[in-house]
Amino acid sequence: PVMNEVSGLDNLEERLKEALNIPEVFIVPGDSDDTPWVKKEMGRAAVGRLKKFQLTRRVIAVTGGTTLAGVADMMIPSSDMEGTLFVPARGGLGEQVENQANTICAKMARKAHTDYRLLHVPDQLSEEAYQSLIEEPGVKDLLEIIKSAGIVIHGIGEAKTMAQRRKSTLDVIDKIEQEHAVAEAFGYYFNQSGEVVHKVKTIGLQLEDLERSELVIAVAGGRSKAKAIEAYLKTGIQSILVTDEGAAKALLEGT
Ligand code: F6P
Repeated sequence: PVMNEVSGLDNLEERLKEALNIPEVFIVPGDSDDTPWVKKEMGRAAVGRLKKFQLTRRVIAVTGGTTLAGVADMMIPSSDMEGTLFVPARGGLGEQVENQANTICAKMARKAHTDYRLLHVPDQLSEEAYQSLIEEPGVKDLLEIIKSAGIVIHGIGEAKTMAQRRKSTLDVIDKIEQEHAVAEAFGYYFNQSGEVVHKVKTIGLQLEDLERSELVIAVAGGRSKAKAIEAYLKTGIQSILVTDEGAAKALLEGT
């Protein structure tokens, strides 16, 4: 046998990097569709990758969802996290309280022994409410901080699943179907080519802001998310992907 033969997952990682044309992929064993604790393993891998970065006085924006809750579970303190600030990436996106970006951001900060700020906005904003909210002094300051985030950790979801989980109106669900949305991240819905087809109106990080971020980690697994992950990565955002074997294998079969 070859001495430095790579393990099965290392091999999968190499193949997936090539297939998706992205610089970094981490794959954990299992499939989170069948075994929920695989999300914690993805969380561990995401935290491990985060820790390789210089974290002192950085702003880290995070999204919600069950996978990011898994990342929060695995967060640990480190000596270079002095002055590091966790913030939610965007305002309310219709998640249960334990899966909201605010909750996850507070939990991460607590576990990392550092600070956080919360963004309090309702889930669905009318144009008027949106305009007046972004002018509120407390909100305005925080929005600037969020938009300046050098590090972003986020989930990716399957479009229809997310629209239903958010109890979106029938109009929105119809639109998502008609436009063939397959992926969702940050409240944006994308088609198979990675084009935005719908956007939830809320304040916070916008897709364009990601271009300025230095480190973007997408954490998403489960074979049911393979198409969503593939579509999202076509947006051209330079994300590092942390995923599981289930999604990785389904992705490679599909590409
Ligand atoms: O609603 C927040 C969010 O991060 C979405 O942008 C994403 O599609 C979803 O959660 C992922 O949720 P989960 O990790 O539970 O599949």
